Amino acid sequence: MSQLNLILLGPPGAGKGTQADRLRDDFVLPHISTGDILREQVAQGTELGKEARRYMDAGELVPDDVIVGMITDRIDAGDARDGFLLDGFPRNEKQADALKEALDKLGRRLSAVLLIEVPDDDLVRRLAGRRVCVKNPTHIYHVDFDPPKHDDVCDQDGARLMQRDDDREETIRNRLHVYHSQTEPLIDYYDEAGLLRRFDGRRNPDEVHRHIRATIATLRLEDEF
Ligand code: AP5
Repeated sequence: MSQLNLILLGPPGAGKGTQADRLRDDFVLPHISTGDILREQVAQGTELGKEARRYMDAGELVPDDVIVGMITDRIDAGDARDGFLLDGFPRNEKQADALKEALDKLGRRLSAVLLIEVPDDDLVRRLAGRRVCVKNPTHIYHVDFDPPKHDDVCDQDGARLMQRDDDREETIRNRLHVYHSQTEPLIDYYDEAGLLRRFDGRRNPDEVHRHIRATIATLRLEDEF
């Protein structure tokens, strides 16, 4: 079966994590989220976590040298050799070039870059109302748009829900600024490479999921014939 090497691209709060949680079950792909990996390091109090935290709390990007090695190793790990779903990486052209180089060396190539588009005003509301499970951060809710059945309790494992440290309004504004200045140029970068697929992220999560799933299924079929 052909490999599915996918990137989820989009601004903070576009729904990358929400969609990744659904798509990895559809296509049996490891969800590799740089944000989740870094937050895990912060929670464990490692040296990497201590360094990363300063940048994350300010809404800035963690330096490329920290991130690139981490991801290029990860995509060559056993469960990612048949494909992966990258979320939050790459975030600038330097990271995109490093990913291409790493894939070239492995004789692999990207299948598609899935761009989820949402206007800034909606993003601020989404991030301010986001709640995540303390036990498993891939369980994501929203106080208005996707509330848990019981206040502040995860539907999937009963653990407490919390607000992320970087979901404060002033940090959210800076994250959006960093996205527009450093990450948005990747839209043209991948469009020119013929890899970009666009999705309207203002639709509800199930509709966005249906569209992305159909696109990936088509890509896979095209690749097999
Ligand atoms: P990271 O964790 O990657 O954060 P992000 O890119 O800012 O994205 P988010 O996780 O905030 O949003 P999302 O698109 O996943 O949205 P979600 O599905 O949760 O990065 C955090 C930090 O780590 C960075 O600032 C940086 O410091 C560092 N970092 C990470 N990667 C790095 C890299 N490569 N290089 C350098 N530094 C790096 O949804 C958001 C909310 O909206 C939820 O409440 C959800 O329920 C709701 N929602 C989702 N979809 C919909 C919908 N369709 N309609 C209504 N509500 C919806």
